[in-house]
Amino acid sequence: MRKNIVAGNWKMNKNVFEAQQFMFQLLDYKRNNATNCEVYIAPPALYLMMAKDLYKANEIGIFSQDMSEHGSGAYTGEISAGMLESIGATGALIGHSERRQYHGETDSHCNRKIKLALDKGLTPIYCNGETLEQRKSGKHLEVVKNQTEVALFTLSAAEIKKVVIAYEPVWAIGTGETASPDQAQEIHAHIRNLIADKYGKDVADEISILYGGSVKPENAKEIFSKPDIDGGLIGGAALNIVDFSKIIEGFNV
Ligand code: 13P
Repeated sequence: MRKNIVAGNWKMNKNVFEAQQFMFQLLDYKRNNATNCEVYIAPPALYLMMAKDLYKANEIGIFSQDMSEHGSGAYTGEISAGMLESIGATGALIGHSERRQYHGETDSHCNRKIKLALDKGLTPIYCNGETLEQRKSGKHLEVVKNQTEVALFTLSAAEIKKVVIAYEPVWAIGTGETASPDQAQEIHAHIRNLIADKYGKDVADEISILYGGSVKPENAKEIFSKPDIDGGLIGGAALNIVDFSKIIEGFNV
């Protein structure tokens, strides 16, 4: 059975005091409320150790927002899979659209990063999704197919089962515009079918596929109710505990 997951991507937000306050609030929430999903946070890398110290019991997954495509060496500013493993991080976001847009990241980079992450026992959350122009020109299914194939299809069946996928249409990120639950479901089913064609239905059914793009307390429940949507990767609404916890509760019946 695949997991339901709500993950918060803080992006480049919060100073150390705000980060610590939120981490305490989330721990307090988790300890006092039964949740029907796994809860992950992806704070800026600077705060990962703090999260690890606080979440000793691993009740909350700790993810970096990116990691290097290289194992180690002269790559100033980068963080390796081995470093993340050594602090006990759960995994890394890979291929977020903001990394693609501002840092020239491609699916080939993602493929290398995903392999390095898996080699170190980390969970990669591989992000993909089409731009507005690509959707308007009716190319969204083809774009997501290419992304998925290049980034993931060199993996073995055992490896791909350990990957979490986040479909994040670029036009819905931080814009307030959300893909409708049906639009998201269409792409999620498409991704799952691609994986089923290549690796078999059993493998495809094991993989959690999250939706990201303006998920809020008001729309989370309906989005999560779709059969191929296994949770959310949340940006803006993951920055305050009230909204984030309401989104987590999108999985409560
Ligand atoms: P928003 O929820 O702010 O649209 O961001 C989504 C996202 O990019 C999560 O990685």
